[in-house]
Amino acid sequence: MANLRAGILGTGHAYPEGILTNADLEKTVETSDEWITTRTGIKQRRKAAPGEYTSLFAVRAARQAIERARLDPSDIDLILCATVTPDQILPSTGCIIQAELGANKAAAMDVVAACSGFLYGLTLANSMIKTDQSRYALVIGAEILTQYVDYSDRQTCVLFGDGAGAAVLGPVESNRGILATRIRSDGRYEEQLFSPGGGTRRPATAETLAAGDHFFKMKGNELFKVAVRSMTDVSREVLEEAGKRAEEVKLFIPHQANQRITDAVANKLDVDGERVYSNIAMHGNTSSASIPIALDECVEAGRIKEGDLVLLASFGGGVTWGGVLLTW
Ligand code: ACO
Repeated sequence: MANLRAGILGTGHAYPEGILTNADLEKTVETSDEWITTRTGIKQRRKAAPGEYTSLFAVRAARQAIERARLDPSDIDLILCATVTPDQILPSTGCIIQAELGANKAAAMDVVAACSGFLYGLTLANSMIKTDQSRYALVIGAEILTQYVDYSDRQTCVLFGDGAGAAVLGPVESNRGILATRIRSDGRYEEQLFSPGGGTRRPATAETLAAGDHFFKMKGNELFKVAVRSMTDVSREVLEEAGKRAEEVKLFIPHQANQRITDAVANKLDVDGERVYSNIAMHGNTSSASIPIALDECVEAGRIKEGDLVLLASFGGGVTWGGVLLTW
């Protein structure tokens, strides 16, 4: 048991068909393709249609990941769904996914850690497998952020998109798998990214709805600096813990929040552009879904090979941040 190591056995992703381009946004708020492209790197994002909800895409991504892990839903004994945009408050989206998959042996719950949710989930699943309390864990990041975006607020509406990504974890041989994990938070930065209405502190009323209190509000400029600092620090911490150097990293997949954040972190870590994956142009920021979508795109494109050292780093509302280092 002491040497038990967890690794990713299969990945999957799914997103809505609807696309919202920068040109579409130019028609509704005072912005431009030029501003969005140069300040964020985003060209388009996926947008769910009315009637499309979070678990719909989570289940599609999960089925793909389970199939690629050559498992059956009944093999899964833990489901962690990272989301800040659940189907509803109760039950958890994890439980809705569990029923839809027919994963009848699995414990299920949601992980609420914004853009870091997937790495929080990987960290928890890793511990459960290493301590022999779970054998096969399904970790999902799934969001319909566009329902929480105020499309009259140009500071946020250009950033966010919808989608889901999933990974199945299980025990692996000791030469591969997760080498180090680190998750952190600092709630003092709460108001840098928050959605104040609809909870017990400010229950939903006609007034809170009219005031748009349920929408995401963000101090992007301040978050930017915290994001660069915390993702760089946590990446260094997991590398150090595993006794690895940045030059050994074959692929760096950071949370996709802003191309300039990605470039700044990669630059500080000395990881050159060819080893950094970015899909922000196509998806925007999909919060907890961004890393698992990116990971699965890399798998599909053959950008990750067995034995590659892969570094994942995230940052999000809370604020929360995390890093995971693994050998593929
Ligand atoms: N179009 C045109 N102009 C704009 C837009 C827009 N969409 N948005 C802002 N501006 C203007 C501002 O009003 C400001 O104008 P002013 O100088 O006249 O006041 C100017 O552009 C510069 O604004 P900044 O906010 O300083 O722009 P910045 O370069 O910081 O980019 C951004 C803003 C893209 C939000 C950036 O700060 C960022 O990416 N921040 C981090 C976001 C993040 O990491 N979020 C956390 C994860 S999300 C999660 O957890 C769900």
